[in-house]
Amino acid sequence: MTQITQQSVQTILENLHSAVLVINQQLCIEYMNPSAEMMFQISRARAKLRPLHELIIDESEFFSRINSALITQHPFSAYEEDLAVRTGQSLPVDYMASPIEYDKRGHFLLLEFVGRGRHRKLAQEKHLLNQSEASRNLLRGLAHEIKNPLGGIRGAAQLLERKFSNDQDREFTHVIIREADRLKKLVDRMLGPRDIPNKSDLNIHQILEHVRSLVQVEASTIKFSADYDPSLPDIYGDESMIIQAILNITRNAIKEVSNDGEITFRTRPLRNYTIGDNSYPLIAKIDIIDDGPGIPDDLKESLFLPMVTGHAEGTGLGLSIAQTLINQHNGLIEFTSTPGHTVFTLLLPLHTSTE
Ligand SMILES: Nc1ncnc2c1ncn2[C@@H]1O[C@H](COP(=O)(O)OP(=O)(O)OP(=O)(O)O)[C@@H](O)[C@H]1O
Ligand SMILES: [Mg+2]
Repeated sequence: MTQITQQSVQTILENLHSAVLVINQQLCIEYMNPSAEMMFQISRARAKLRPLHELIIDESEFFSRINSALITQHPFSAYEEDLAVRTGQSLPVDYMASPIEYDKRGHFLLLEFVGRGRHRKLAQEKHLLNQSEASRNLLRGLAHEIKNPLGGIRGAAQLLERKFSNDQDREFTHVIIREADRLKKLVDRMLGPRDIPNKSDLNIHQILEHVRSLVQVEASTIKFSADYDPSLPDIYGDESMIIQAILNITRNAIKEVSNDGEITFRTRPLRNYTIGDNSYPLIAKIDIIDDGPGIPDDLKESLFLPMVTGHAEGTGLGLSIAQTLINQHNGLIEFTSTPGHTVFTLLLPLHTSTE
């Protein structure tokens, strides 16, 4: 095995998925890695040498265990705990504490946290990806089967039309042609995006503003708000595909909110995030939030499947297409919804491991 340098140890720590904290005898934070910054939603510059009490406000056994580990120098692990943290949330975690000594500065405690919620979420996300791929294949097959005879029906109706001399007979062939065209449009939508993505560097905020200007015209009374993180780097993707996906989600939200409703676009970076089987150092998280009544419970399980709709006039293809478009960028769309607060989240890798 080659010698690992100090620098590479640092890189390994910085890229770990578990949140790592080192605290001193006074229970103040000496070090935290980026996953810990994410988990506790605080930058390490702010957390440096602050008391651990400011991050974890748990009054249960947590602090007595930590104290005794520092005194006795015995490691310990705790599983399936819920820790109350400064953001007001309760974090479901497993954690391990190991006494360490370094820099000849005495004893410290190394704390590793693994979010349990994350495991459950990973399984859900994988299920979502499998589900959308299976349904896409089924629908493509079906659409092809419909499309082939449809061309023949339309052609035959055109030939017939030439044979008919009176307008009344022609009206029947017109109906056939018109309905065949309508069906073809639907089938083309069912077949979904055919093009291979034509990727370039894109500023996601410009794209969101473009979508906002398009839909604001359609829904002038709805309030659109933006909460952008300007530090988000460019994404690498197909502009028209990303616009289409965001448009489909935004148009759904417009349909649901009241005339004076509000739709918010929010962007944030996420570090060390896993989608399906791939891990990415940096992900763009794009939230489309609306204050409408929320997604009906009976649709939640199957929302991304084609033909699932809550509206009589809906085709139920918008979300399935949006999911396909984002999957083609190695990304994922997910959602959470309660009455008055629905969030559709697009997760797009910024530096994909395959490109
Ligand atoms: N923001 C939202 N709030 C509440 N319900 C939603 C929201 N977005 C989607 N839905 C529900 O999900 C269903 C499926 O949406 P989807 O876009 O796939 O199909 P659709 O809008 O019905 O038809 P179309 O193919 O024209 O888009 C919608 O009919 C609606 O019931
Ligand atoms: Mg729709």
